[in-house]
Amino acid sequence: MAVDSGEAGTRASAEGSELTVPATSASPLARVPAQALDVAAIRRDFPILSRQVNGKPLVYLDNAATGQRPLAVIEAVRRSMAEENANIHRGVHYLSEVATLEYDAVREDAREFLNAPASHEVIFVRGTTEGINLVAQSYGRSTLRPGDEILLTTMEHHSNIVPWQIVAGQTGAVVRAIPITDAGEVDLDAYRKLLSPRTRIVGVVHISNALGTINPVAEMTRLAHEVGAVVVVDGAQAAPHMAVDVQALGCDFYACSSHKMFGPTGVGMLWGRSTLLESMPPWQGGGDMIHTVSFSGTTFAPLPAKFEAGTPAIAEVIGLGAAIRYLRGVGFDAIGAWEHELLVRATEAVREVPGIRLVGTAREKAGVLAFTLAGVHPHDLGTILDADGVAIRAGHHCAQPVMERFGVHATARASFAFYNTLEEIDVLVRGLHRAREVFA
Ligand code: ALA
Repeated sequence: MAVDSGEAGTRASAEGSELTVPATSASPLARVPAQALDVAAIRRDFPILSRQVNGKPLVYLDNAATGQRPLAVIEAVRRSMAEENANIHRGVHYLSEVATLEYDAVREDAREFLNAPASHEVIFVRGTTEGINLVAQSYGRSTLRPGDEILLTTMEHHSNIVPWQIVAGQTGAVVRAIPITDAGEVDLDAYRKLLSPRTRIVGVVHISNALGTINPVAEMTRLAHEVGAVVVVDGAQAAPHMAVDVQALGCDFYACSSHKMFGPTGVGMLWGRSTLLESMPPWQGGGDMIHTVSFSGTTFAPLPAKFEAGTPAIAEVIGLGAAIRYLRGVGFDAIGAWEHELLVRATEAVREVPGIRLVGTAREKAGVLAFTLAGVHPHDLGTILDADGVAIRAGHHCAQPVMERFGVHATARASFAFYNTLEEIDVLVRGLHRAREVFA
């Protein structure tokens, strides 16, 4: 079905010119003037942004897949590996103590980043996917009974669908999908109707990687709690782009990934309410998560160690700490405002290309622009843009139910970060026109 992207807009001024801002102008991502951000200076912090690809300056618009790393993160990882490498929580020697201090300190950075009540509620995991699997296999598997319901929005990433299908198969629970509208917003009326005393868990993505929709997580959580369900939020796309406040959201679990937040791969954060985490069984057993072990029985360590079996990703967690401090230094007010301007400009320019259909036109939207171009397969589009040095993603974005909902097999997706520029949007749009000519 066609998605009408031409909502009535308001007028706003950007760099002296008037432009029409879609209904997203009320977005929480657009609170301060975009000029507050010195994008040129920020770009100098990211070495990869000055490289060439296929003989052209790199235009990196695949930030929803992974963000780039600033020097502060690269240096933190290098220092950890080159100067402070040792295992943590085990050694009595100098290097182990330094590594332990550095690693443990990041938990407080993470607590502050998420505005969590306590740092022991933050579990370091491999990423959002592992965080959700942990909740499904520990909380879900130990509490779900046959006939219990798990509600998930239709716009969830596979990582917030498949773990629930697996635990539903193990427990006899049932997974049900919350419909979304043609604009790519959660159908809140349908959600209210689906909620019942059988609902035990609600899973919702904070920002959709396939549509850009910012979901009303606080409202959805309030409604879920009225029926006694717990709410698990996939924050992978939100954590790099907006201030996250788990207390204001009111949710019960929140998972996000370092690599999308301009930190290293292989690490992420799961925040959970301590009353829930304390009542949950361990998910993985091994070193560091025990209190005592004998063949007559084992007792487990308190939070957070209970959920961190084995040697963790030490250098990566330290790099995540550097990413969090970098983001704090830039500030989410300025990041949100600039990314909103990029989204508005890109939406207007891309919409002008004949044959474009935007997929995802929610009123509250982050910097994700997904589209199809008539007569050009998204993968071909990606290849043509790549020749211009432009990196986008093409495919189903690990969100096949979204593709099904919008009647497409795949979309092309440009996703923005605070280091992107208006000039880069021009390069993208020129590439789209070129693709049309090639396939005409
Ligand atoms: N989930 C990531 C994306 O949307 C990989 O590209």
